[in-house]
Amino acid sequence: MDYVTVAQKDELQPNERMVVQVGRRWVAIFNVEGTFYAIEDVCTHDDGPLAEGELTGCIIECPRHGATFDIRTGKVLSAPAMVDVKRFDVRVEGSAIQVMPR
Ligand code: FES
Repeated sequence: MDYVTVAQKDELQPNERMVVQVGRRWVAIFNVEGTFYAIEDVCTHDDGPLAEGELTGCIIECPRHGATFDIRTGKVLSAPAMVDVKRFDVRVEGSAIQVMPR
């Protein structure tokens, strides 16, 4: 498995997020002050669209019932979700944002 290009860097400015498809998964990519993070765009509680949630620093709040996750690690931080969300390795190669499928 190798990294796949999902966007160009200038398409995702600092403090923006976007959702891309990587294989069969929907992946939310965040640019936090110039650093990129990627997690699955599916809340582990009830499939809420995490990219539509409120982001505070590196903590995303699910828009559906308010569970929070650390987008750097995928770790769940508060209920009602109990399970970590999938996190993806993401890198910038030249002008391309790339994600490692999993
Ligand atoms: S779907 Fe995310 S907290 Fe319920």
